Amino acid sequence: MNPLEVIGRKRDGREHTPEEIQFLLAGYVRGEVPDYQMAAWLMAVCIRGMSPAETLALTQAMVMSGEVLDLSAIPGIKVDKHSTGGVGDKVTLVAGPLAAACGVKVPKLSGRALAHTGGTLDKLESVPGLTVELDPERFAKQVREIGIAVAAQSPRIVPADKLLYALRDVTATVPSIPLIASSVMSKKIAAGADAIVLDVKFGRGAFMPDLTSAEELAAEMVKLGEGAGRHTVALVTAMDNPLGRTVGNALEVQEALDALSGRGDEELLEVCLRVTREMCELAGVHADAQKVLRSGAGREKFEAMLAAQGGHLERGLPMAAVQVAVKADRDGYVGAIDALEIGLSGADIGVGRIRKEDKIDPAAGFVVEAQVGARVSKGEPLVVVHARSRELVDGVTPRVRAAWHIVDHEVRRPPHVLARVDKSGVTRAD
Ligand code: URA
Repeated sequence: MNPLEVIGRKRDGREHTPEEIQFLLAGYVRGEVPDYQMAAWLMAVCIRGMSPAETLALTQAMVMSGEVLDLSAIPGIKVDKHSTGGVGDKVTLVAGPLAAACGVKVPKLSGRALAHTGGTLDKLESVPGLTVELDPERFAKQVREIGIAVAAQSPRIVPADKLLYALRDVTATVPSIPLIASSVMSKKIAAGADAIVLDVKFGRGAFMPDLTSAEELAAEMVKLGEGAGRHTVALVTAMDNPLGRTVGNALEVQEALDALSGRGDEELLEVCLRVTREMCELAGVHADAQKVLRSGAGREKFEAMLAAQGGHLERGLPMAAVQVAVKADRDGYVGAIDALEIGLSGADIGVGRIRKEDKIDPAAGFVVEAQVGARVSKGEPLVVVHARSRELVDGVTPRVRAAWHIVDHEVRRPPHVLARVDKSGVTRAD
């Protein structure tokens, strides 16, 4: 067997054996299969797809590329949470600490910005001093003592995904159900949690274009999770507009702190509370998530987690040197905010990466002033762009302004959580 044969089989639309998948992946992790061959295979997978058996084999090969954490020493049912990625998606930063404050143990391995979507690790690293590189012992200790840890997959845990994730990010090979399902579920299985809540996003700013494909991805992931003995539930949520009031790294950490202090955007709180309730349910924890939120215990838990990971919030979050409002060019109502355009503009000002080696600007991002449904007059601010330089702001301003669709009629914010998927199937919201 050689890599060219395996790539060629997928190019021609044939089904891989588990051995072929294992061969290619193990070779890539060892550095014997170069990036360009792996990228060619990834593109073939994007175009040709994979059968459920191939997706399972890929997930298992990814899990086997590293260690599987044993969290059995931590008492109770451990529940992990993962999103398939969105724009302004800070749900982990709110629902994770909130669930931990309710009494759930939350061991979470997260990712970095991917394509136009933000990354929880990049957001957390905007806190001065904070590390997301926790070795498995420190990770388990923090979950035991504080109830939550959010870390990068260390080289010891799913090394294959760490490499593939970075490669997919820069080769336009992210939006593929088998690649997303295996990437997410290999990390979830290796992180050692007993149960998993997934937030599967669809729409302009997500990798899944519509509700049906998001449900398909959710069902695939639930099957992989349940097959590995982990109770898995997925919520399918809309990602046409950016979630909440900010898009960025430090900006989203601040928004999460505000939301945990009870000053959250309605839609953001809705999805965070739903995710928290699902996490509590899977853990067998009877807590009133809303009450815990109001008590401020979620915020305390978040601060304790940041401090345990070396973060110094008291030093202040980084702030952009330049902050410029983009204003409405007509009167009307905000009908939609194109999350994809905002995500792509974000990459241009340093919220995410365009090349693998690009540096994130922790202070860069957007603060939404006019949400979907808001009435605006010509000249009023729609959004404030935070960036390192005026040049960067000017570069994205036309695109950002065009992302705000202003219409003449009144607009209601659309429903956010549209379906729930578990092992017995899909339930659509009314
Ligand atoms: N999140 C992941 O962890 N992997 C993907 O492929 C997409 C979103």
